[in-house]
Amino acid sequence: MDRPQPEVLISADELDARVSALADDISRAFEGVEIVAMPLLKGAFVFAADLLRRIRGGVSVEFLGVSSYGEATESSGEVRLTLDAAAPLAGRHVLIVEDIVDTGLTLAYIQKLVSSRDPASVRTVVLLDKPSRRQTDVELTWVGFTIPDRFVFGYGLDGPGGLCRNLPDIVAHPSESDE
Ligand code: IMP
Ligand code: MG
Repeated sequence: MDRPQPEVLISADELDARVSALADDISRAFEGVEIVAMPLLKGAFVFAADLLRRIRGGVSVEFLGVSSYGEATESSGEVRLTLDAAAPLAGRHVLIVEDIVDTGLTLAYIQKLVSSRDPASVRTVVLLDKPSRRQTDVELTWVGFTIPDRFVFGYGLDGPGGLCRNLPDIVAHPSESDE
């Protein structure tokens, strides 16, 4: 049977408008303060590229690489750091930039890691929040969209079979639960 076309959950235009609004909020919150933005690779790379270019003020960037899914579409619960920050974080204002929070295990691990390095402050912006499957409390300073418990991809997030990160919209397979 033909695979159904992915359904657009959040269009590129909606993403564009929401990312601008988030950038405004973040710019105001950090007014006059330099920040270290820490996008979590790979999923947050598109969101971070759009967001950071709209933040007014001094921004440096340190990437973190995390892997919790492997090839699966369910979190294994085991978070691995695949790339660490090159620069020290002590005394600096950190903005963690993440694509999506599901169980919360990845973000909880990263927030703990970053906090252990004695930064002046740690705040978190996530594009998508799937609160229904949360396993651990995580503090989210800014959230782009709250979404239902569906596996989504595009706009930097990878989907089943890969090759999906370049899609401009956030999409989901209508019948992916039947696969
Ligand atoms: P958590 O540790 O369960 O909160 O999962 C967070 C990580 O899993 C995110 O950084 C994403 O990379 C990935 N993830 C969670 N849900 C989805 C999804 O629906 N699509 C693609 N990746 C997802
Ligand atoms: Mg991720």
